[in-house]
Amino acid sequence: MYLLAGKRVLLCVSGSIAAYKAADLVRRLQEVGAEVQVAMTSGGRAFITPLTLQALSKRPVALELLDTTEDAQIGHIELAEEADVVLVAPATANLIARMAAGMADDIVTALLLVTRAPVVVAPAMNTNMLEHPAVQANLRRMAELGYRVVESDSGELACGQEGAGRLPDPDELIAEVAAALSERDLEGCRVLVSAGPTREPLDPVRYLSNRSSGRMGYEIAAAAWRRGARVTVVSGPSSLAPPRGAEMVAVETAAEMQAAMEERVGDSDVVVMVAAVADYRPANVAAEKIKKLDEQLAVPLERTTDILARLSDAPGKRVLVGFAAETESVRDNAKEKLARKGLDLIVANDVAAADRGFEVATNAALLIDRDGGEEETGLIGKDELADRVLDRVAALRAASS
Ligand code: CTP
Repeated sequence: MYLLAGKRVLLCVSGSIAAYKAADLVRRLQEVGAEVQVAMTSGGRAFITPLTLQALSKRPVALELLDTTEDAQIGHIELAEEADVVLVAPATANLIARMAAGMADDIVTALLLVTRAPVVVAPAMNTNMLEHPAVQANLRRMAELGYRVVESDSGELACGQEGAGRLPDPDELIAEVAAALSERDLEGCRVLVSAGPTREPLDPVRYLSNRSSGRMGYEIAAAAWRRGARVTVVSGPSSLAPPRGAEMVAVETAAEMQAAMEERVGDSDVVVMVAAVADYRPANVAAEKIKKLDEQLAVPLERTTDILARLSDAPGKRVLVGFAAETESVRDNAKEKLARKGLDLIVANDVAAADRGFEVATNAALLIDRDGGEEETGLIGKDELADRVLDRVAALRAASS
């Protein structure tokens, strides 16, 4: 309930087969805290009933521009003025043409001319239609007019064709809506994030790893992208969907992560080392699968390199952020790590409790910066914690510029 908490979203649905996804979209928008008001074109109504969207949004759906029976005459102006953000999903070629021309010939186009809120437009149509020069010209025009046009996904379309034109998943659209509302205080800033666990091979089929899911790192990446940053994520194995807008670099071992981070650190303004890097790896990797011969098996381990400590020696100026997973003396251990690893900010959390740290969506952290500033977040979502960390990063960048 964080990303769009308390935000009024006006969802405009037009007549693409992807309109059936609007029902799920309403639910997901509500799950991240939004109040949803739906408006539909007549084409939209051919694909999904207003009753469905009314039941889910718990509000009457705006359908008619010129309806004397509704209080829509004034009402539609209010709907447009009340909205914090507008999401047009799916947007058909026809609606895009009408928007690009500034028409107001139905309720949706009228609302779009009245609103002063940011407007996110998600085209969804057949690939040939999308690629048609007329549609492409209209999309360019929309961008010039200040609409935030979302790139469609590629894949199999309802018509059977393969190609661009699919409506992105609800979570991707929500990320775009949140980005449209976000402060752009990291505009153009190059943010390098490490995320997830590492895997240290023992033999061809086994490895040593840890319980990191990658979620905290992906949330940092997603939040940085919303705030305008150019984001690269060096990620150990994770089953999560990659964060929107980020360039992804997949690695497995600590050594691979080190190489990937060192290669990119020179081109970064901010480095956030969230990954749970293995501190030790098997000293020898068996060429063949280890057989169960003895009652006990001792595996000698050797230290991996401390990537974060090395990154602090990299030439150039940047904000360096580390994480600390502790089970005791959180403040003292975190302060010691901040100094030892040459950090600007450390995000320490107590991983002994079940509701924070590994494998859960919430966390409670203690943020300590290089000047001794401290902030305790209390138990919050990892998405919110990501923004808190980046608030500090933005402040540290402002202080050192
Ligand atoms: N880290 C790293 N390279 C390693 C180990 C850790 O870059 N080989 C980074 C992590 O990404 C994190 C920070 O160092 O940002 C702290 O990691 P943590 O495991 O909590 O601390 P350690 O320094 O490894 O100390 P200890 O295990 O003794 O608590």
